[in-house]
Amino acid sequence: MSASTIRYSRRGLLKTAAATLPTWFLESSLAPALAAEKSPNARPRIALVGCGGMGQHDARLASKFGDVVAVCDVDAAHLAAAAEAFKGAEKFTDFRKVCDSSGVDVVINATPDHWHTLINLRAVRSGKDVYAEKPLTFSIDEGKRLVAAVKETDRILQDGSQQRSDPTFRLACELVRNGRLGRVERVRTWLPSGLHGGPFATAPVPPELDWDFWQGQTRPVDYVPERCHVKFRYWYDYSGGTMTDWGAHHNDIALWGLGKDHTGPVSAEGRPLVEPIPGGFTAPSQYEVKFVYADGVEHFCRSTSANTWGGGVQGRPGPGEKYHGVQFEGPEGWLYVTRGDKLEASDPDLISAPLPSGAERLYASDDHMANFFESVASRKPPICPVQIGHRSVSCCHVGVIALRLGRKVHWDPDAEQFADDAEANKYVAREQRQEYSYEML
Ligand SMILES: NC(=O)c1ccc[n+]([C@@H]2O[C@H](COP(=O)([O-])OP(=O)(O)OC[C@H]3O[C@@H](n4cnc5c(N)ncnc54)[C@H](O)[C@@H]3O)[C@@H](O)[C@H]2O)c1
Repeated sequence: MSASTIRYSRRGLLKTAAATLPTWFLESSLAPALAAEKSPNARPRIALVGCGGMGQHDARLASKFGDVVAVCDVDAAHLAAAAEAFKGAEKFTDFRKVCDSSGVDVVINATPDHWHTLINLRAVRSGKDVYAEKPLTFSIDEGKRLVAAVKETDRILQDGSQQRSDPTFRLACELVRNGRLGRVERVRTWLPSGLHGGPFATAPVPPELDWDFWQGQTRPVDYVPERCHVKFRYWYDYSGGTMTDWGAHHNDIALWGLGKDHTGPVSAEGRPLVEPIPGGFTAPSQYEVKFVYADGVEHFCRSTSANTWGGGVQGRPGPGEKYHGVQFEGPEGWLYVTRGDKLEASDPDLISAPLPSGAERLYASDDHMANFFESVASRKPPICPVQIGHRSVSCCHVGVIALRLGRKVHWDPDAEQFADDAEANKYVAREQRQEYSYEML
């Protein structure tokens, strides 16, 4: 595929944000306009792997910039629905065949978390660029392998943490990075609580589902509907609960604002607030984790509607409120940011006063999918490349490990290991079922 540029409209994207964002920011921080349009025969050919809710959503967004020519799923019903939505797309059940196809330029990977890395590795090694749904990985070791593979193959990989392409989050991070709050002392992230439920009964495997393939590298178990589509994210076999599911959004923003998205915390202390029910979802639905960074900055991360650690909360959400979001705190006040263009501060001047010329400005993207295709064309890094996706989710993985152990762990973000802690280091990589291990690639 030849490199060229793509046109997309920023005006529409910024319409809602413009109502709430200060004029100085809108005028000084627009994502760069893209000039030329691609000729129809230079549109990237897209394969969707994982055709559930998010995959179909991503593929619809991507179809503005390229053509969906292939769909792949291990559930024949989801595959048929995607083939119906993207008429003419070839159907696949094995992602390796998709990656082998010379008729595919780009892979969108929207499978469950435990499948992300194997598919991403195979795709980049087959010369494809990848839009990789968050959380980027299932384990820290997977992330290290993926970072190396993307570098080796010189592919574009955009991690799907799309809050990076939301101007409201960018504004919050720019203000924080430029010292608007003074030296940040604390950041708080509130993540939606998970599901609490069980015990669940086994059921016959639906005829349309290849349950063995769906389980992949995990330890095989009898089919339980609540383990499979959508709800997989509440089981440690397939995910890290909402700590990774939503931490890949809000902890990612916390690290961006702190300027720590190339590193990670040095310790984490975790506590489930609700014990999972035996035979039910295994990731605790409610929890809290305290991270500390090398410079002493504290990061309190907890599920919503729990407020038992970290002292009084100055901004939203207060005790019992259900909002999720990120709050930065320093000697000059606090800033709270979340979705829906919501940015609040202890003093409105903290937002309305323009940043001085010469202030540090962050990579500006107002459309995550457009930014990916722009990178595919230009070969310049996207806003959320593999290194950042890996670091953001590593922070979450460290939090999950602290929760699983129910105690403090000491993380070395340079060595990417726990210090003298064999019990914690066991979770850095996962055991794989041989048929679905790295050897299958
Ligand atoms: N960026 C966001 O805001 C956002 C929002 C929702 C979901 N997601 C992410 O998207 C991913 C999918 O989530 P979902 O809610 O759509 O889940 P889902 O269960 O609805 O869909 C996953 C699909 O992948 C299929 N699949 C499983 N293993 C496969 C394999 N080896 N090859 C091909 N297909 C396979 C499943 O059969 C299913 O159709 C998750 O990682 C989730 O975290 C991101």
